[in-house]
Amino acid sequence: MKTRLTDLAFFGGPPQFAEPLHVGRPNIGNREHLMARINDMLDRRWFTNNGPYVQEFEQKLARYMEVKHAVAMTNATIALEIAVRALDIKGEVILPSFTFIATAHALQWQEITPVFCDVAPGTHHIDPNRVEHMITPRTTAIIGVHVWGSPCPIDELTEIAKRRGLHLIFDAAHAIGCSYKGRMIGGFGEAEIVSFHSTKFLNSFEGGAVLTNDDTLADRMRYMRNFGFAGVDRVDYVGTNGKMTEIAAAMGLTSLESIDEIIAANKSNYDAYRIGLAGLPGIKLYSFDEAERNNFQYIIIEVDEILAGISRDILVKILHTENILARRYFYPGCHQMEPYRSYYPHSGWLLPETEKLILRVMSLPTGTAVQGIDIEQVCGLLQYIIRNSYEVTSKTEVYL
Ligand SMILES: Cc1ncc(COP(=O)(O)O)c(C=O)c1O
Repeated sequence: MKTRLTDLAFFGGPPQFAEPLHVGRPNIGNREHLMARINDMLDRRWFTNNGPYVQEFEQKLARYMEVKHAVAMTNATIALEIAVRALDIKGEVILPSFTFIATAHALQWQEITPVFCDVAPGTHHIDPNRVEHMITPRTTAIIGVHVWGSPCPIDELTEIAKRRGLHLIFDAAHAIGCSYKGRMIGGFGEAEIVSFHSTKFLNSFEGGAVLTNDDTLADRMRYMRNFGFAGVDRVDYVGTNGKMTEIAAAMGLTSLESIDEIIAANKSNYDAYRIGLAGLPGIKLYSFDEAERNNFQYIIIEVDEILAGISRDILVKILHTENILARRYFYPGCHQMEPYRSYYPHSGWLLPETEKLILRVMSLPTGTAVQGIDIEQVCGLLQYIIRNSYEVTSKTEVYL
C-alpha cells in the first residue's frame, strides 16, 4: 500500500494495478456451454431470423422477469425506438436528463422532443412532482429510468400517466433481476426495456429486449423488428432491422443460466466496497433497498468535495493513473450533450439537482473479473488519497 504522496502514480510512482481494472468488464458464464451452443448453431446453419436460441432466450427471460412477453432485439436503443414507435408516441416525452444518452436519442431519432426533467433532491431518479409541471398539450408519454437497477418512482409516475392520459414506459436497461414491492421489474407501465450490452451483468455481446404484458403490443413489435413483415410477402408496418442474432442469444442464454452466481459475485463485491469505504468522509456508497431483489451490478459513489477535500474529477484522474478505470456517470448529463445542448441551451436552469449530481457521481470497478483483494486495494488507495486530500490537491494543481 502506498505510504507517501510520491508513491502515487500521479506523482511518479508505479501504478497500483499492472493491468487496468475496468468498470463493466464482461461476465462470461460457462464457456463450455457457450461453445456447445455456438457449435450447434453452426451445425444448424440458422444464424438469424427468429432462430431457436432467440425463441428460447425470450421464453426464459420472460419467465425470469415474470412477464408475458420478451421481444429480443439487436440492442436496447433499437428496442426503445421500436417500443416508442409501436405505441405511437409523438410530440414531447418527459424523461430524466440523468440517464444514458440512448434514452433521449431513441426519441430524437424519431423527431420526438425529449423534455428533460430534474431528479428528486437526494435521489438519482426523476422527480414525479416536477414531471407534473413539464406536461404540455404536446406531451404524449413519460419514460422513467431505473438508474443502477434501483426502481424509479413507479407508483407516482403510473398515477400521473393514468390521470393525464399519457403513455408510460420504463428504461430498465440496468434493472434485470431487480424488484419493486416484491414484483419483478419488467411488468410495470406499458413496456420496460432491458439491455444485454457487454458491459451489463447479463450480456449477449450486444442485445436488448422489450418486456410487456400486452399481447397486441408484443405482436406489433415482433413485426417492426423484422422490417414490418407480417407474412412471407406481406408488410403491414414501417419496420426496421432490429433482430437479435442466434450467436447473441446463445450468449444471452449462457449468461442467464449463470445469473444467480453473477449476482452473488456482484453482491460480494458490493459488500467489500461497503466495508472498505465505511466512515470515509465525503464518500457515499449508493445503497439499495435490501428488502427488494437487486443485481448490484454498479458500484456508485457520490463524492462531496467539501467533506472529502478533493473533487470527483481529480479523484477519477488519480485513479486512472493507478490503472483503476473509474467512470464519471452520467456525465455531463443528456441536456449538456449535442444536439440538446444547442437546441435548449438554458435547460440546466430547470435541472438544478441534476447539475449538482453529475459533478459528484462516479462508478468503481466490479463484476466477476474483479476480486475481493482488488477491492481492498482500491478502497485502501481511496482511504489514503482522502486522508491526504489537502496535500494531494495542492500538489495536483501543479500537475493538472
Ligand atoms: C440507461 C440506459 N439506457 C439505454 C442504454 C442502451 O443500451 P444498448 O447499449 O443495449 O443500446 C443503456 C446502455 O448502456 C443504458 O445504460
